[in-house]
Amino acid sequence: MDDDHAENGHCGGGEGRGCNGPAPKRARPSPAAISGAEIAAEFSHHDPSVARLNNGSFGSCPGSVLAAQARWQRLYLAQPDEFYFNRLQPGLLRSRAAVREVIGAEEVGEVSLVDNATTAAAIVLQHVAWSFTEGAFRKGDAVVMLHYAYGAVKKSIQAYVARAGAEVIEVPLPFPVSSDADIVREFRGALDRGKAGGRRVRLAVIDHITSMPSVVIPVKELTRICREEGVDQVFVDAAHAIGNVPVDVEDIGADFYTSNLHKWFFCPPAVAFLHTRKGADSSNLHHPVVSHEYGNGLPMESGWIGTRDYSPQLVVPEVIDFVNRFQGGIQGIQKRNHEKVVEMGKMLAEAWGTCLGSPPEMCGSMIMVGLPGCLAIISDKDAMRFRTHLREEFRVEVPIYYNSRKDGETAAKDENSAVTAYARISHQVYNVEEEYHRLRDAIKKLVQDGFNCAMLPPVKKVM
Ligand SMILES: Cc1ncc(COP(=O)(O)O)c(C=O)c1O
Repeated sequence: MDDDHAENGHCGGGEGRGCNGPAPKRARPSPAAISGAEIAAEFSHHDPSVARLNNGSFGSCPGSVLAAQARWQRLYLAQPDEFYFNRLQPGLLRSRAAVREVIGAEEVGEVSLVDNATTAAAIVLQHVAWSFTEGAFRKGDAVVMLHYAYGAVKKSIQAYVARAGAEVIEVPLPFPVSSDADIVREFRGALDRGKAGGRRVRLAVIDHITSMPSVVIPVKELTRICREEGVDQVFVDAAHAIGNVPVDVEDIGADFYTSNLHKWFFCPPAVAFLHTRKGADSSNLHHPVVSHEYGNGLPMESGWIGTRDYSPQLVVPEVIDFVNRFQGGIQGIQKRNHEKVVEMGKMLAEAWGTCLGSPPEMCGSMIMVGLPGCLAIISDKDAMRFRTHLREEFRVEVPIYYNSRKDGETAAKDENSAVTAYARISHQVYNVEEEYHRLRDAIKKLVQDGFNCAMLPPVKKVM
């Protein structure tokens, strides 16, 4: 290794060369469940005035994990050279090994830690773009993605693969949705369009849980269909999945699978994993920030992208300790969150005379609840203004989805009018029923007062 490495205190040279630490010791799920008071203490840094029904956007991190993160940060600041020479790489390996176990990957070498799902998408899409620019894929070959793919990922598809010559095909999805079969049918139709005229479908980008509207997608089945239909590569954007729904990457069988650890898995912001299936074409997979480890494999490249704060990536074992204080560990948390969010969703829909956006089995720990049509949310801007209104006037944080309709599509109905918008509620371990009651009562009051969105001021632009 060259002198630059030594200067930066970075060991370099790939895995297994003296930098690797031991696999983390895992606490087993505790038989005595964590108490309500202990949970409240773990999240006592949350603003108590806010009913936080939006774990989905930014996640949450308990105090014990924040304390572990602070210990790593102090270790670094106490003796940076020692940290970079001797602590960082073994620490990252401990975290990757812990992720490997949770997601059922075969080997730790298949798991990289990156900042977030956006970065993971850039890694995969850049890789596909090179196949177009270097001639392995023909211009005009197709890339298939869901219409409800996350906005930032759609832009990344434009910036990397469309620009390199791919034809992008969107899978339209019905919403409200009633069954996996509706999704499978639309997906097959999009693959047929992608293959029209002898074209190849080079990549399918499939969300595990779409963001807005939030629906759990049958990723295993869609991945299987991709294999049958000769799609070259499958990338699952599962930003919301780990900690929200069961994840078994071997079983799903995609080439690339990413999930944020800071959304539903209690890590501090920001860290995600990117799993690369053994045998997938990953030789040309690189971190977009090129540094000393370029060419030593994505896990190593991602473990050294310059001087920065790596502490969010180092605390995965402490997160495992935290989740194992709950009955059933992370599976128990998922199960209870799912049951509770469905119960709260049904309670709200009944109180407002509306409906859920999907059956409970198509939800994890988030659910879409129809809002009364008389609120007149008739654009994306209205949805944003209404969300701001709920935050400022009622101290409720909840994302609002405007359900725009294409010709011929019919909206769900409430007691009097069409449902034009949905609230996406989350349930995480810190939530309590009163927070959902506050949302229920806020909407009921607005309806009783004859409120509608046209009464709201325009969204303020913050520069
Ligand atoms: C489906 C999906 N993909 C990607 C992202 C991006 O995640 P991040 O902002 O952490 O990169 C999100 C964020 O909510 C998402 O919901």
